[in-house]
Amino acid sequence: MIASEAAPFAKTGGLADVLAGLPRALGRLGHQVTVFVPRYRGAPAGEPVAEFAVSLSGRTLAARFDRHPVADGVGAVLVDCPALYDREGLYGIGNEDYPDNAFRFAFLAKASLEFAGRMFERVDVVHAHDWQAGLAPVYLKKQFAQHPVLGGVPTVLTIHNLAYQGLFPADVLPTLDLAWDLFSVDALEFWGKISFLKAGVNFSTVLTTVSPGYAKEIQTHEYGFGFDGIVRRRSADLVGILNGIDVDEWNPMSDAALPAPFGPNKLAGKRLAKKQVLQSFGMATDQAGMKRPLVGLVSRLVDQKGFDLLSSVLPDLLQQHAGYVLLGNGDPNYEQEWAAAARSHPEQVGARIGFDEPLAHLIEAGADIFLMPSRFEPCGLNQMYSLRYGTVPVVRATGGLDDTVENYRPRSGAGTGFKFKACTGPALLRALGCALQVYQDPVRWQAIQRAGMRLDHSWDASARKYVKVYRRGVVRAAVGARAARA
Ligand code: ADP
Ligand code: GLC
Repeated sequence: MIASEAAPFAKTGGLADVLAGLPRALGRLGHQVTVFVPRYRGAPAGEPVAEFAVSLSGRTLAARFDRHPVADGVGAVLVDCPALYDREGLYGIGNEDYPDNAFRFAFLAKASLEFAGRMFERVDVVHAHDWQAGLAPVYLKKQFAQHPVLGGVPTVLTIHNLAYQGLFPADVLPTLDLAWDLFSVDALEFWGKISFLKAGVNFSTVLTTVSPGYAKEIQTHEYGFGFDGIVRRRSADLVGILNGIDVDEWNPMSDAALPAPFGPNKLAGKRLAKKQVLQSFGMATDQAGMKRPLVGLVSRLVDQKGFDLLSSVLPDLLQQHAGYVLLGNGDPNYEQEWAAAARSHPEQVGARIGFDEPLAHLIEAGADIFLMPSRFEPCGLNQMYSLRYGTVPVVRATGGLDDTVENYRPRSGAGTGFKFKACTGPALLRALGCALQVYQDPVRWQAIQRAGMRLDHSWDASARKYVKVYRRGVVRAAVGARAARA
């Protein structure tokens, strides 16, 4: 697998969680997986297993490859090239991307393949994730077709987020060892630029995305970000597989970040988590404070996650009988907005701008409601963490959120959360209002909590689906090779 993030070595979002959980689950099924990620600043050095120069269009850089054992059959290889990766951020600083990102991630793909070609006796499939790994299928076809280990190996591309397309000016093409014939509509060209994601979509054997719902959505104009036609052309080869969650790391019965364990039959510990969250944000923990419903948000602060919708109804949110705790970073406007709300309403709003994993766990555990009003959501992990932690999700019915949250039905009392369809502030407020109302009825509320806590979102079932996809790729590649020989 090739990706730009993998926990615990580098993380800005859910991609990193997937690159930790999926390989482990595949390992449990008896497969051998190596995950390639850059060694960014701060990532621990592992065991150096190789060192060689990698060239892209005449620019040659020395790379060291550090191996970290991860689990049975699973390892990570950190591609260490300080000139490219030893920087303050993963992709850039603030909203500003690094100007050489095309080269940085082309290098990742190329160096990973060269490593595999030199160090492995056999490779069954190369699995590339998101645009950052999008050139791997192209390099395999164009540069390694005759390679004894890598020749003819099938590729899988997983789209974690179609909004990030890896777009660069056309003139970088020759600096990436790619010939001008690839600058065409059925290869890398996208409205006069080149797109790494398009490269991956067009050159991989099989495509996946991270929920069945999103697999459908990205073939529509509304969610396609200009890529819907490109994806539709490959719809026969596109499979939606829901992400799993790491049920050991996200287990309220054993989570070290929590003051006390809790579970579906033992909800008392959750109150202690709520108390600790309130305390850590300097909010009241007296009887009234503990009784007031607490809404949690842990997120990248970007439009995708619905922060513009939230802005449009912030005064209305403050009118509700509810407290809010937010952890996140991202768009400076949203950072400032929430920090200001916390300053002006310290009793009602807590905001921590930053990235803080233990606090993320504590909020997931201590909040009563988890709010995730995403405009689009390929899968989303936080709502699944919330379900497991008895924190009832209020979500927009899109992508993976729609696939994983079952809307509450007042008549039967069935359901695991509250969903709204229209992408508007009033729709958000209505769904939150319903949740706050049902919260007042502890019997109903606990039934919703328990229904969510009993769901199984572990990786194993999803990993089996990936194995099927890999097999499909292997069969496809074999058929292609036979046809080429004939
Ligand atoms: P996305 O990848 O689009 O950001 P996901 O829901 O798939 O959304 O995954 C987000 C992951 O990042 C979760 O594991 C979540 O807990 C984590 N996360 C997001 N923001 C923060 C933060 N500020 N501090 C700690 N963890 C965060
Ligand atoms: C992306 C998506 C998110 C998904 C994650 C992991 O960051 O935004 O919905 O859960 O990738 O697949």
